[in-house]
Amino acid sequence: MLSIHLAAMSILRRIAVAAFVLSAAMLVNGQDEVVNYDDIQADEIVGGSIAEAPLEFMASIQDPLFGQFCGGSVIDSTHILTAAHCLTDYIEKDTVQTLSVWLGGMNFLNTSSFTVIMVESASVHQLYQTINSNDFDIAILTLAEPTTMTPIQLAYNESFEEPGLVGTIAGWGVLDESDFVPPPSLYIAEVPIVSDADCLKSSGDALDIDTMVCAGYEAGGVDACQGDSGGPLYMTSDNGTIYQVGIVSFGFGCANAGEYGVYSSVQHFLPWIRNTIEGVTADTPEEDMTEQQREDSASIQTNMREYKANEDEESNSSSDTIIIALIVVGVLGLLGVAGYFGYSKWQHYQRRRRLMGYSSSELPVGESTTELMY
Ligand SMILES: *[C@@H]1O[C@H](CO)[C@@H](O)[C@H](O)[C@H]1NC(C)=O
Ligand SMILES: *[C@@H]1O[C@H](CO)[C@@H](O)[C@H](O)[C@H]1NC(C)=O
Ligand SMILES: *[C@@H]1O[C@H](CO)[C@@H](O)[C@H](O)[C@H]1NC(C)=O
Repeated sequence: MLSIHLAAMSILRRIAVAAFVLSAAMLVNGQDEVVNYDDIQADEIVGGSIAEAPLEFMASIQDPLFGQFCGGSVIDSTHILTAAHCLTDYIEKDTVQTLSVWLGGMNFLNTSSFTVIMVESASVHQLYQTINSNDFDIAILTLAEPTTMTPIQLAYNESFEEPGLVGTIAGWGVLDESDFVPPPSLYIAEVPIVSDADCLKSSGDALDIDTMVCAGYEAGGVDACQGDSGGPLYMTSDNGTIYQVGIVSFGFGCANAGEYGVYSSVQHFLPWIRNTIEGVTADTPEEDMTEQQREDSASIQTNMREYKANEDEESNSSSDTIIIALIVVGVLGLLGVAGYFGYSKWQHYQRRRRLMGYSSSELPVGESTTELMY
């Protein structure tokens, strides 16, 4: 019964948010400063080039129906690092095990070049919240079988986040914000790290600077975009070792001037990553931990306590009231503006939404896309 209730609430929440965002999007249609949740979650490669050789650490996370929808990176023989927002739907519906991880290839037209391994389980950061926040956007998939791909090394301190250092992003996401059909090829692009101050100027409230790192050009033009989420931002050190510095998380649109791509900071989450892959939880007795694990577990236990506090707050009835109010406001707004702007806008909105996080195999091909942007 509980799970039915949760599932029903999650559907209601979705309807409420969709209706609310839709009416807001319609109301402000045509103005440049439209920022909705989809834009914030959106992340592909814009302004890059086709990768010349496979990247052993590069993973494509695939839905059995929609195909490639997020990136990831091999961090050891059985674990893939990715973004939390890639997985929340699957965790809610308990369908994580339907996902597969594609490794070792570059072009999806050549299926045989990939090794495909099913996902066994997923761990999402305890503090990640599905709605209204981009904080703690980090997750780890456990593979059902080990891979022989060479893992990427993880950035271990802040020296990797020096402004001006140039990182590389890789992904199978779309090449332009208005594209629906991502390329079959892996794209890479170079983006310089941006200072906290510059990034705060552009991304403002959406940014928790300690847990995130920003990269891109002030003039725009090069960025991650839809379908690249969860993939790595990485750097090659002088001796050739490749280090992952960030995880593609969010941006306002893609490659817009004055907006940078925002990445979860790998060095910040290193204790969480180590604990998660080593299976250390808040329940693990201290005497069973190594010194490093004990040090790391301080962060995981603090996080868990905070998470429980948040959960308790959320589970009181005021959140249900807010959801119902959202539905009422959303549906009323929807009815009002839907009639005004017409059914075609609704259809366009639907298409834009479906793009988020999914490859667009089911989308109409060959239609003009320019009118679809808000
Ligand atoms: C497909 O990938 C395999 C394995 O990497 C490679 O040997 C083959 O040449 C590729 N085929 C094409 C048409 O590129
Ligand atoms: C990061 O680690 C390297 C190697 O251990 C060290 O040389 C460097 O000073 C450290 N940087 C910071 C900012 O801690
Ligand atoms: C490169 O340097 C890092 C640390 O400085 C070291 O851990 C790693 O083993 C080195 N890699 C190679 C290939 O020499």
